[in-house]
Amino acid sequence: MLFRQLFDQTSSTYTYLLASAKGREALIIDPVLENVDRYIQLLTELDLKLVKVIDTHIHADHISGIAELRDRTNCVTIMGDKTPADVVSMQISDEEIIKIDDLEFRALFTPGHTSESFSFVMNDRVFTGDTLLIRGTGRTDFQNGDPQDSYNSIFNKLLKLPDETLVYPAHDYKGDTVSTILEEKKFNPRLQVKSANEYIDIMNNLNLPDPKLMDVAIPNNLKLGIDFDKQKINNGIEPEEFNGYLLDQDIILIDLREQNELDKIGKIKNSTRVSFPEINSYLNKNKNELHNKKILFYCAIGQRSTLAIQISKSYRYNKCLHLIGGLKNWIHAGLDLVK
Ligand SMILES: [Fe+2]
Repeated sequence: MLFRQLFDQTSSTYTYLLASAKGREALIIDPVLENVDRYIQLLTELDLKLVKVIDTHIHADHISGIAELRDRTNCVTIMGDKTPADVVSMQISDEEIIKIDDLEFRALFTPGHTSESFSFVMNDRVFTGDTLLIRGTGRTDFQNGDPQDSYNSIFNKLLKLPDETLVYPAHDYKGDTVSTILEEKKFNPRLQVKSANEYIDIMNNLNLPDPKLMDVAIPNNLKLGIDFDKQKINNGIEPEEFNGYLLDQDIILIDLREQNELDKIGKIKNSTRVSFPEINSYLNKNKNELHNKKILFYCAIGQRSTLAIQISKSYRYNKCLHLIGGLKNWIHAGLDLVK
């Protein structure tokens, strides 16, 4: 496994790059917009292909690099299923497993700092976002934060991990880089409490100033995605019309999601799965077969399928359409899925 901890000085954010040494697939957690060039350079230097990028939560102190990385590498953008951010192309739920090659990341829903925060466990380590910091915990006084939720997430989830688990947070303001669950249990001053109420009392009396960039960062981070209008002008069609095309003989129906998303809710009948990061090579390899066909793309919420349309145009496939709003919209329209 390859592992890099990268630091953004302006916001004191840690960004993590993880990759499989075998397959060379990479994943980035909590990227910062201003540092995207540096991530891309590092990926190139280490000969890695970025396939997934995760934000642990909506950040209030920096603009996320998630959309810029999506546009430059065609990676899949991931956040938890409670997020209001529109940039997400794959929403994960509590206990769901995210894979890159042979590496597995287990998602843990850990609200409190925000109502949509997730942590991610991989082997001997956990990426805690701002839920659990080194000798601190993430503030709970904005973005639907809740000290009771924070207590539950920390005491009933994170601190239940093995004592030796390495703790990698999204921030540190003192220069610490890593801790362990045991160290935090013993020495984190906010965790030396006898009850949830005692913890809530501490959190309600921190009296912190708002983050400097908060008014810029939050609205920006909520709107990094491709909205319905943009999905529409990129050959997007509504579910009923999309369904109508499925009767045609000369179509090929492509599901751009990951296998675990398919396992969770099923798929549209007769679709072939080509995971979004593979779409470039798929279109390139199957030119002869595809050129006479109408290609229909769909994904979870229409983000990946819009990007697939743009990619297919660069291969001069002109007969491509995609499902606006993805399967979320399809299900909303009352249409069927198969397992
Ligand atoms: Fe945060």
